[in-house]
Amino acid sequence: QPHGFGKAPVNIALSKYWGKRDSVLNLPMNGSVSISLPGLGTETTVQPFGGQQDQIELNGQVLDHSVVFAKRLSQFLDFFRSAACPAFRVVTQNSVPTAAGLASSASGYAALVVALDDLFGWQLAKTELSLLARLGSGSASRSLFDGFALWHKGERPDGMDSFAESVDSVWPEFCIGLVKVNTQEKAVGSTLGMQQTVETCDLYQSWPPQAQRDLETITQAIIQQDFHTLAKTAEHNALSMHATMIATWPPIVYWQPESIAAMQIVWRLREQGVAVYFTMDAGPNLKLILQTQDQAIVQQAFAEQSTPVEFILPFQRQ
Ligand code: PMV
Repeated sequence: QPHGFGKAPVNIALSKYWGKRDSVLNLPMNGSVSISLPGLGTETTVQPFGGQQDQIELNGQVLDHSVVFAKRLSQFLDFFRSAACPAFRVVTQNSVPTAAGLASSASGYAALVVALDDLFGWQLAKTELSLLARLGSGSASRSLFDGFALWHKGERPDGMDSFAESVDSVWPEFCIGLVKVNTQEKAVGSTLGMQQTVETCDLYQSWPPQAQRDLETITQAIIQQDFHTLAKTAEHNALSMHATMIATWPPIVYWQPESIAAMQIVWRLREQGVAVYFTMDAGPNLKLILQTQDQAIVQQAFAEQSTPVEFILPFQRQ
């Protein structure tokens, strides 16, 4: 029985994707740029399946077809069915980060398209795989790459120019800290959250131009390895995105009291001269942006508030 294998890392956006101009093709209102986290992600095998429906196994458990995760995955697989392969068996394993709050849909759809490419022997370029992964989940377009990735907004209505590519930079001191303040499922998924924001938030009109500007600033800062510009723009970008979420109706507030407490630790450290910043996605957890030289002092400040931080060095392979 032929099968295909793929793996992909999770990624964290430094300039965010928030809002779709086409919700079928997952075409974004603005481009985004991210950093992938090696060692955290998804491994998937896919093979033709004899049954009537797909068989989808997640972390060792076969999922019922009514589970949202399985439904969405089968819908994505509809693009790839044929008479020879009417159904698939998909076995997918997410590496479990001790600090959660990471989007598994991004690494999940990226790993799946890599596995499909292997199964069918397409030998597509990464930018082409990125286009396909985007159809599963927008942020998945960025998970085909290690290091920094830039997802182009694109202009075309068919989305053929909306894919991600690598931003070349090896930056050994660049460090991400995962701060888990809450493990609960997010209240509002990103698809619904984006839709509601685009439809009901008057502030939203300022978001796409700001995000495009931030994207350019951050991409330049990556190339020049200008940490301060990168990190400060990323924090401002994340808070601006959350401002649009809060100003929707009904309001979407992903923050918990512990999120704000963690922000205050970051801001206090900055007042003391430590170059640490944060970003946040559609959930309550913080992702710190810092350099290796400040790891110990950041770790200690969070430990004093009984908050563990898991540090990841994207350019130092374990
Ligand atoms: O790709 P989605 O639909 O899971 O949306 C991701 C949205 C954010 O994580 C909030 C921002 C981003 O660019 O990753």
